[in-house]
Amino acid sequence: MIVLVGFMGAGKSTVGRQLAARTGLPFVDSDAALVERLGMPIPDYFTEHGETAFRDAERRTVLDLLATQEPCVLALGGGALGSAEVVAALASHQVVHLDVDLEEALTRAGDPAGRPMLRRHDVPQLYASRRPVYENAADVAVDTTGRDAGEVTESIIHAL
Ligand code: S3P
Repeated sequence: MIVLVGFMGAGKSTVGRQLAARTGLPFVDSDAALVERLGMPIPDYFTEHGETAFRDAERRTVLDLLATQEPCVLALGGGALGSAEVVAALASHQVVHLDVDLEEALTRAGDPAGRPMLRRHDVPQLYASRRPVYENAADVAVDTTGRDAGEVTESIIHAL
């Protein structure tokens, strides 16, 4: 399985879809699987149940996907690597870090209403603490800053 990790706005879903089309693998988005499990949009779940409950559901969903999915391109939500169990499970997959600078990540992430983490946390601090975690978990890092999804997709294919 090829697993895309990185901060919100790194382009995991956009690049993931293109990479799937290019490799002939199915595309799976952990956030979409999670929304199905939660039965409501992510911002609503944060409001009703809080971040701790969200992380618990996210961890279970991502561990299930990593264990049971057929070969695919899997995009993980930006906070999924907060679980040590998820990080450990990544060891048996090809992990690609879509790196992006913070300014561009925020521009691409768009309206913070859809991403509760951008409203609830010190975002530069969150970015700085997560970046080394993505880096350590990844087999390959691809810089996406200033590059479009097609170029990034080709870089990943080249690097794997
Ligand atoms: C989150 C990232 C989001 C989503 C949720 C929490 C985070 O996914 O899982 O809002 O903690 O970084 P994207 O990285 O796809 O935006």
